[in-house]
Amino acid sequence: MPSRILGQKKTQQDYDSSIGEYTTGWTGSGASKSDKKVVGLTLFDLRRLGKVDRLGMVGVNGGKFPAIRQHLAENIGGVYKDMDLSFEEFPKQGKTDPDAYKEAIDRLSPGDAVIVFTPDSTHYAISLYAIERGIHVLVTKPATQLLSHHNALIAAAKKHNVVCFVEHHKRFDPVYSDAKARVASLGEFNFFSAWMSQPKSQLETFRAWAGKDSDISYYLSSHHIDISCWILDGKAVPTRVVASAATGIATSEPYNCVPETEDTITLLVDWQSINSPKHKGTAVYTASWTAPLKSGVHSSQHWYYMGEKAHRGYDVTVDDVGKSWSNPFYMKYSPSESGHFDGQRGYGYVSIEKFIDAARSVNAMKSKPADYDATGLPTIANTVLTTAILNAGRISLDEKRPVGIKQQSGSWVLE
Ligand SMILES: NC(=O)c1ccc[n+]([C@@H]2O[C@H](COP(=O)([O-])OP(=O)(O)OC[C@H]3O[C@@H](n4cnc5c(N)ncnc54)[C@H](O)[C@@H]3O)[C@@H](O)[C@H]2O)c1
Repeated sequence: MPSRILGQKKTQQDYDSSIGEYTTGWTGSGASKSDKKVVGLTLFDLRRLGKVDRLGMVGVNGGKFPAIRQHLAENIGGVYKDMDLSFEEFPKQGKTDPDAYKEAIDRLSPGDAVIVFTPDSTHYAISLYAIERGIHVLVTKPATQLLSHHNALIAAAKKHNVVCFVEHHKRFDPVYSDAKARVASLGEFNFFSAWMSQPKSQLETFRAWAGKDSDISYYLSSHHIDISCWILDGKAVPTRVVASAATGIATSEPYNCVPETEDTITLLVDWQSINSPKHKGTAVYTASWTAPLKSGVHSSQHWYYMGEKAHRGYDVTVDDVGKSWSNPFYMKYSPSESGHFDGQRGYGYVSIEKFIDAARSVNAMKSKPADYDATGLPTIANTVLTTAILNAGRISLDEKRPVGIKQQSGSWVLE
């Protein structure tokens, strides 16, 4: 989704966004059954609150827009009061055009903003195109698939003096940020493990790119790899990655993904303490998109660090659906007493609002993009090790070897 922030003259901002499940809650075969309908809803609400102005949505197939508009009218306009759902669509007139994002971005002015929630393999080209035109960018995880591309985005954002954040919303989960603060007093890092899975049904939505353009490690482990990089910032650095994969479910009936598709990927990562040469730690990150159906929760997840565990949300049991877990800390969809959207404190919302606030502050010349690198916010510069680990994991799987991570002339590189 690109968004438009008109800087000094205007107090509101304009933006465009992509039209996938995370943006609209629309999967192409009906409304998403997951809790992923975040970006559009958040931006419509931020417009109601005066922080953004003109909105646009970009996809590849413009033929989807009538169904998307109807879906938004029913699921946002019909549920919350005072939501202006207007937006400009790209490509126009029902056309199909994978380069429509260029037309949308060309219409923006420096200081406007783009929010990119497109398939992993397209993040780099779209983000770079926007940054080079002076547009602030919020790109979803994984920021890029290649470490070299991540480094190029860091350099471009610096050169063009724009805010570039990666939408690592778990950094805004109060449980996680509290855990980060507690870890600070637990001494040297020793062991971290993270597990995250989604039900097999996701493969129906992602069949178009699963195994071809990206893998489940990029898609899901990116969350907890980033959390561990964030927690360990200033404490330890990753030095070596070995990956292993389970296969056979995604490539069988009824999913029939391409032969390269892994089901479950595990990365084993060595970490070296920055302050103590003798202290080394180990992290294990596992992600799967072949978890059983109807397990109640969309993204099953837990992580463990030095004896601390996180669990949040609550469960609801309904006759036909069975037991399901809800996480209002992420997105609260039930309206307020007045009938308005009421999820402004959810970390899915906060994550987008923090980016909009940073872009507005830079446009108003109250801060500089580089200021945000000195904070715990997920700037492109602050998230480079997450991409280093993910990229190393992919190479380890493809080349069946351990992959080293090191710093060279001020940049992180793989060996
Ligand atoms: N932060 C999170 O928790 C989270 C959750 C889900 C997805 N994501 C990320 O968001 C991205 C998209 O996920 P999704 O669930 O919305 O997938 P999706 O398949 O439902 O949607 C992808 C959309 O991108 C659009 N697109 C593809 N190529 C494009 C191009 N060249 N220009 C413009 N638009 C293009 C398509 O039209 C499609 O609508 C992925 O990178 C995924 O990792 C993040």
